[in-house]
Amino acid sequence: MDQDSQAKLSRRKVFVKSYGCQMNAYDATRMIDVLAPEGFEETQDMSEADLVVLNTCHIRERSAEKVYSELGKVKLLKQERARSGLATTVAVAGCVAQAEGAEIIRRQASVDIVVGPQNYHRLPELLQKSRDHSLIDTDFPVEDKFNHLTPPATTKTMSRGVTSFLTVQEGCDKFCTFCVVPYTRGAETSRPVRQIVNEAQNLVAAGVREITLLGQNVNAYHGLDEAGAICSLAELVGKLSEIRDLSRIRYMTSHPRDMNDDLIQAHVDNHKLMPFLHLPVQSGSDRILKAMNRKHDARFYVDLVSRIRQSRSDIALSSDFIVGFPGETEADFQATLDLISEVNFSSSYFFKYSVRSGTPGAEMDDQVPEAVKSERLARLQYLVDAQRHAFNESSVGKVTDVLFEKRGRHSGQLVGKTPYLQTVQVDATEDAIGQVHRVCITGTSTNTLFGSLADRSLGQE
Ligand code: SAH
Ligand code: SF4
Ligand code: F3S
Repeated sequence: MDQDSQAKLSRRKVFVKSYGCQMNAYDATRMIDVLAPEGFEETQDMSEADLVVLNTCHIRERSAEKVYSELGKVKLLKQERARSGLATTVAVAGCVAQAEGAEIIRRQASVDIVVGPQNYHRLPELLQKSRDHSLIDTDFPVEDKFNHLTPPATTKTMSRGVTSFLTVQEGCDKFCTFCVVPYTRGAETSRPVRQIVNEAQNLVAAGVREITLLGQNVNAYHGLDEAGAICSLAELVGKLSEIRDLSRIRYMTSHPRDMNDDLIQAHVDNHKLMPFLHLPVQSGSDRILKAMNRKHDARFYVDLVSRIRQSRSDIALSSDFIVGFPGETEADFQATLDLISEVNFSSSYFFKYSVRSGTPGAEMDDQVPEAVKSERLARLQYLVDAQRHAFNESSVGKVTDVLFEKRGRHSGQLVGKTPYLQTVQVDATEDAIGQVHRVCITGTSTNTLFGSLADRSLGQE
């Protein structure tokens, strides 16, 4: 290759737009890392990108439709760049890529590469090959992508901030009847302990202070340690907490059935493990939980929550809820509201049931009319919002630890997070970014808390 084309190659730009869950956000960073040795630099401006990657989500119908509308825009951009003599490669990655494969190229011919969530380590190779014809890579590979991913440069990690995601478990064998994830992410697998510890050490050496361990069923983690023994999530958290400069560890998303005693105990023993748990229940009706194949009833969940709170009374919980699952009656929905009232969540996410073809739910009779779903969603939202608001109000007047993450909107102000992931704005100097400080919470608005440093020596120069 002559020097000119070498220089051109090294100036290539990649734009990645990620949809869906935190794991997709993590994958997006890993795609950028795998493309860096190929001379790709990340850009936030799609119009200057030589490679556009849409990292897609298939969880609900609207998530998938968003991709096709975005692809319409990407096509126009590709045409416009072509008029200026610039080539653009378009790749669709993520869960829509896995679910729809070749259908994507049939619907949108400007797509060059379709690559599934287990195959994106092959992006450099796919890019080479896609010069001649479009490519689809959605077979579940025999090799583990994590063995082929490039670690990010230290400067790159630093630019990403003091908090980071780290996938430790991927895929799902639970097959809830509404959900596409077991089909798009494949069977449940856990990464080996050494691989995770190495990645965490690199992150912390580059300034990361909080790591959120990710998995579709993260508390089902059962990776192998160096001696070949199975390590639980609690044991993994124990090992990671030995990394000295790592201040905080979180994990998500947990399944109630996999919430074992050793993990509950870790919340008592390990001060780096934050007292906040995302533990989706989906519904409070036993009939609906059974039809959803959630593998537990409402009593099991409520009892589990009280066991967790007996161990650590200050733990806060959040959940996901689906309203309007096929066959859901007013009484079933009322059971969900009752469960929410009984448990009292600090925050929750709620969705109207969305029919996903290929899942058992799509074949069920008694689909709930859209208007009924909307009406129930509004009632659920009202209750969940009231609980979140009350939780935030209860923080006012308390002193809590805050990890400062970045500059605030106004000068002299930083934004950080409490152990419960509440956003707090505090007057403090920039050197506090990456540090945990005691903060007195003085007030709250809809989505933010306000506070002042309890340690007055900081931020008062
Ligand atoms: N693995 C996690 C969550 C995966 S998907 C778990 O087991 O809880 C994230 C959330 O999307 C789910 O918790 C569920 O509330 C919602 N969801 C999944 N499929 C859905 C569908 N077909 N319609 C509406 N919401 C859905
Ligand atoms: Fe989907 Fe259920 Fe698996 Fe969660 S546990 S990813 S909701 S199938
Ligand atoms: Fe969406 Fe796939 Fe995550 S369907 S929620 S991006 S696992």
